[in-house]
Amino acid sequence: PPLSRILSLMDMEDVARQVLSYKALVYYSSGSDDEVSYTENSRAFSRFFFRARVMRPVSECDPSTTLLGYHSSIPVFVSGSALAKLGHPQGEANITRAAGKTSLIQMVSSNASLSAQNIMDAAIPSQTLFFQLYKHRNDEIAEKRVREMDQLGYKAIFLTVDAIVAGNRERDIRSPWILDDQEKGSVPVWDENNPTGEEADMGGIAGGLVANDDRDMTWEKTIPWLRKITKLPIVIKGIQCVEDAVLASEAGVDGILLSNHGGRQLEYSLPPMEVLLRLRQQRPDVFDKLEVYIDGGVRRGTDVVKALCLGARAVGLGRAFLYAQSAYGEAGVLKIIEILRREIISAMRLVGATNVKDLKPEMVERVDWQSF
Ligand code: FNR
Repeated sequence: PPLSRILSLMDMEDVARQVLSYKALVYYSSGSDDEVSYTENSRAFSRFFFRARVMRPVSECDPSTTLLGYHSSIPVFVSGSALAKLGHPQGEANITRAAGKTSLIQMVSSNASLSAQNIMDAAIPSQTLFFQLYKHRNDEIAEKRVREMDQLGYKAIFLTVDAIVAGNRERDIRSPWILDDQEKGSVPVWDENNPTGEEADMGGIAGGLVANDDRDMTWEKTIPWLRKITKLPIVIKGIQCVEDAVLASEAGVDGILLSNHGGRQLEYSLPPMEVLLRLRQQRPDVFDKLEVYIDGGVRRGTDVVKALCLGARAVGLGRAFLYAQSAYGEAGVLKIIEILRREIISAMRLVGATNVKDLKPEMVERVDWQSF
C-alpha cells in the first residue's frame, strides 16, 4: 500500500509481516516461551487511564526533551536491535538517516548488521548516536570495543544486562536460522561462536549472537571497570525490578532502561510499565538520581505519554523501527516518527500539557477492573 494509507504503527507492522522473509519475521517478532511477557508488555499500557486536565491553553505544545543532555524532538528513541539487514538491504542506515532528519536519538546495537563506522557515516554531523554494548567475556576485547565507539563519536554506552544467555524463542529456533553474508553484514562475533558452544547449539539467531557474552557481570566489578575505560555516560539496559534500579543508582550510573528485552529474554518478566509504576510508588527518589527510560510494547503516542507521566524521561521502541525500515526503507521510518509525533502532541494537548515537564503522576491511574 502507499505510505499515505499507513495510519498507525500497527498498520506498518502489517505491511512488514507481508514483505519480510520467514526467517526475518520470526527473528524480529518472536518472544520467549509462550510469549506472555511479549504480549503483556503492550497490554500493560492499556490498564493505565488518563486523568486529563481541561481548560488549559495548549495551542503551543512542545514535545521535545533531552536524553543525557542531548536534544530529542520527541521523548522517543530507537532501542538498539540487531540485524536490520535481515529486513532491508540498507539496514540500520535507514533508521540513522530518518533519525538525523527528525532529531531522534538512535541507540545502535552491538549486533547491528552495518558496522558502527558505517552507521556513523550515514549520520549528519549534529546527530546523536548511543551505543548498546553486549560485554564480551574477555575484558580486553570489550574494552577495545568501548574505546572504538568513543572515538567514533557515540555519546553514551547502554550496557545490556538482561541477555547473558539467549531467551528460548522457539519460533526463531525452528526457522532456518543460519545467516548468509549479506544478512549478517558486519556482526562482529558471528564466526567465532558459530556453530560451537552451548547457546549456538540451541539454535536460533539469538543463540549465536550472545554466545561470547559475559555471564558473570556484577555491580561491584563491571560498573567500575566500564567507568574506568570511558568517560561516556553509562546506562544499564534491562532493569526489571525496583531493587536493581536502586542498586544501579547506588552504582552511580547515569541512567537505567527498564526493559525485558521486548519479551525476548526472561519469560514472565514484568512489563516495564509495571516496573515503572512500582519504582514511582516505592522509590521516587531514584528519578532524581538518574534518567529512567522504558521500552517494550510501545505502539501509541498515548503509551509514551503515560510513561512520561510516571517519570520516564523517554521511551524506546525496537521492533517498530525494524518493521518500518523493512517495509519502506528510510521513508517508512520517517513515517512512524511522524505518526508518533502527531499522536504524542495530540495526547499531550488532550491531557492538558504543553511540554514534557507538565506530565505528572497524578495524570494517570492504573485500573484493576475485572475485565483487565
Ligand atoms: C532486540 N533487542 C536488543 N537489545 C539489545 O540490547 N541488543 C540487541 O542487539 C537487541 N536486538 C534485538 C533484536 C530484535 C529483532 C528485537 C525485536 C529486539 C531488544 C530491544 O533493544 C528492545 O529492548 C525491545 O525491542 C523493545 O521492545 P519492542 O519495542 O520491540 O516491543
